[in-house]
Amino acid sequence: MQEKINKLIKDINKVVLETDEDVKIFQEKYLSKKGIIGDVFRQFKTMPNSEKKELGSLLNQLKKIATGKIEHVAQAQNNTPDKELFDLTMPASYNKIGSLHPLSKVQNKIVSIFQKVGFLMSEGPEIEDDWHNFTALNMPKHHPARDMQDTFFISINPDTLLRTHTSSVQIRYMEKTKPPIRIISPGRVYRKEDISMRSHCLFHQIEGLYIDENVNFADLKKMIMYFVENLFGKDVKIRFRPSFFPFTEPSAEIDIYWGLKTEADHRITKGTGWLEIMGCGMIDPNVLNNVNIDSNKFSGFAFGLGIERIAMLLYQVNDLRLFFENDLRFLKQFQTTK
Ligand code: PHE
Repeated sequence: MQEKINKLIKDINKVVLETDEDVKIFQEKYLSKKGIIGDVFRQFKTMPNSEKKELGSLLNQLKKIATGKIEHVAQAQNNTPDKELFDLTMPASYNKIGSLHPLSKVQNKIVSIFQKVGFLMSEGPEIEDDWHNFTALNMPKHHPARDMQDTFFISINPDTLLRTHTSSVQIRYMEKTKPPIRIISPGRVYRKEDISMRSHCLFHQIEGLYIDENVNFADLKKMIMYFVENLFGKDVKIRFRPSFFPFTEPSAEIDIYWGLKTEADHRITKGTGWLEIMGCGMIDPNVLNNVNIDSNKFSGFAFGLGIERIAMLLYQVNDLRLFFENDLRFLKQFQTTK
């Protein structure tokens, strides 16, 4: 008898109940009045009392396992949600999507202004060599102008550095391409500067390069006017101020008239009302010769600007560090679809 019960327990444990039909058959076979377990109980009643004690608990166990099996299936069915509980007419839950970083927005805008007049986009590596970042740009070793851009050198190889400007991309492009050239190069640049409201050790630049026959300073001025009017609006007032860059001659810096209405205007323009926004100039013939472009035949201009500076002006942000902290309270203010 004991053996029989143990075998039944084993059999029942092996049974898999999936459908309602399975449950019905199982119930019929084991738990109905005429079922196997009923038979065993009837047999049990006829046993001598001395054996009943031991077998009784085993028999109860058998019944428990068999009924437990069915309850388990019923429970699993209850957990499956009823299809009717879904209201298919409810609006779908809304997934928040991210937005472009303000610096990306400004960069895209500047790139698109130049793309409209035929500039192609060109990018280059952030880890540069001395030639592309300095020497080819008319700044040979020990040239004092290198001090204008405090540089992060990569110590295992003193010839390798983090680019200090995206002018290096222009050298790479000129080495590969013959004029006419019209490119715009956006990218991240690095300088060993203290981090403050107005400067950072990394920032973003966009530089442009235009080379063809008979390009002159008037072409440069026209291009800059076209650009600032598209970025800041038709009423913008700018001035060209003579300046120096080793790779351009003559060189100029461009200031935008910001005004002196508020105290903040006084502070950011240092009391002048004017704010510097970019550098530019006619490409020095030495640079063209360095990349094997005939400087007697071709001439060109280049310009470069800092994206953070433009973003600060456009969005009235007075602390450059905000662009790098990625505080959501700051970024959410720039959430639009474009
Ligand atoms: N490369 C210069 C800088 O980073 C900017 C510049 C570019 C100036 C092109 C003139 C012409 O300061």
